[in-house]
Amino acid sequence: MLTVFVGLHLFNHLYSVAGAAQHIEVMKGLRLFYRNPLVEAVLLLAVLVQIGSGINLFQKNRKAAVGRFDRLHLWTGLYLAVFFVIHVGAVLVGRTVLHLDTNFYYGVAGLNTFPLNLFFIPYYGLATVSFFGHTAAIHNKKMKRAVLGCSPQSQALAILALGVMVTAFMFYGLTNRFRGVEIPAEYRVLIGK
Ligand code: HEM
Repeated sequence: MLTVFVGLHLFNHLYSVAGAAQHIEVMKGLRLFYRNPLVEAVLLLAVLVQIGSGINLFQKNRKAAVGRFDRLHLWTGLYLAVFFVIHVGAVLVGRTVLHLDTNFYYGVAGLNTFPLNLFFIPYYGLATVSFFGHTAAIHNKKMKRAVLGCSPQSQALAILALGVMVTAFMFYGLTNRFRGVEIPAEYRVLIGK
């Protein structure tokens, strides 16, 4: 459930390469699915389970993780747990306390404002790379055979490399191709303006 949502969510952010209005249109379409009260309740429950099981597994496997994919699995899992608490918490506060539409502008206000971007670039960048890194580590563990002459390890490295590329393109779109995004007045409360 989480992987499907995050896959669609990152596709939505990649779509910002086409422009802010296009990103918002895609989000409106996707919300028909994930803002359905039943779907959203299950999604938020999945986030909670992921946080709880993630922290639990981190504590249990901390000493046993020796290989590089095991360590990738462990540390990306811990980062995702911390990120979920902050990110989903911030989205829920935006909706219920600040009464903002948590759209493109809510997500990118900090990313386009110096010095807040010094926090938001690594914060979002690491989250996206961690999502692909975590998937890559699990793929390496579960996949038993080569595909087109590629070993499971090479396949996992390809997933990780894809994550780095997605992150770069996503930032390109979310920062309006490096020229910066004009933040509407109602979102300026997020950046102290
Ligand atoms: C540049 C990176 C990202 C940005 C700018 C961003 C921004 C946002 C925004 C604006 C929302 C609110 C969506 C809405 O109101 O419909 C949201 C929700 C959410 N995001 Fe992200 N996100 C990013 C990356 C991620 C990643 C990497 C993950 C997971 C690994 C993630 C997980 C979630 C979840 C679980 C929700 C809650 C969905 C709900 O409303 O129930 N996000 N994000």
